[in-house]
Amino acid sequence: MLTDYSRIVVAYDHSDLSKKALKMAMNLAKLDNQIELLVFMVMQPARPIVYSYGYAFEAIQDSQREEVNAIRKEIEEEIQSLPNKTRSVVMEGNPGVMIVEFVKQNDADLVVMGSRGLSGLKELFLGSVSHYVVQKAPCPVFIVK
Ligand SMILES: Nc1ncnc2c1ncn2[C@@H]1O[C@H](COP(=O)(O)OP(=O)(O)OP(=O)(O)O)[C@@H](O)[C@H]1O
Ligand SMILES: [Mg+2]
Repeated sequence: MLTDYSRIVVAYDHSDLSKKALKMAMNLAKLDNQIELLVFMVMQPARPIVYSYGYAFEAIQDSQREEVNAIRKEIEEEIQSLPNKTRSVVMEGNPGVMIVEFVKQNDADLVVMGSRGLSGLKELFLGSVSHYVVQKAPCPVFIVK
């Protein structure tokens, strides 16, 4: 049954639940070393820069890039401990849209992600990113809580 899930994407934002999602996905991958594991992170601007003329432009800060690179290095070390084929990818943009696009382009069979992320608001069960991905992904989505 697990070979149905031959390529797993973990959506990772460094929140506690995304760490749990990564652990869960690594445990799935350990069951069959034919499973490929892709960890995907989407960088968003930490703060918007607003210019005149009513247009708001956003920029990723260098410090944020460095922080994300450090996190990615940590993750690379962790996933490379598996005998499986693994990869980590960082992109910039809208997280939900980018995750769904990444899943489609890599022909993934399963997405593993947290119910909530960094914002941590508890009123709703799902955050906006997990809500979007559950609706738009072409494959099953494993929500960790
Ligand atoms: N930028 C991102 N890159 C990759 N995965 C992400 C990103 N943001 C969220 N995720 C994934 O989505 C899960 C749910 O996070 P989500 O952002 O939906 O909730 P939230 O941060 O609590 O709420 P919101 O962002 O809507 O205010 C995370 O645990 C993580 O797996
Ligand atoms: Mg979020």
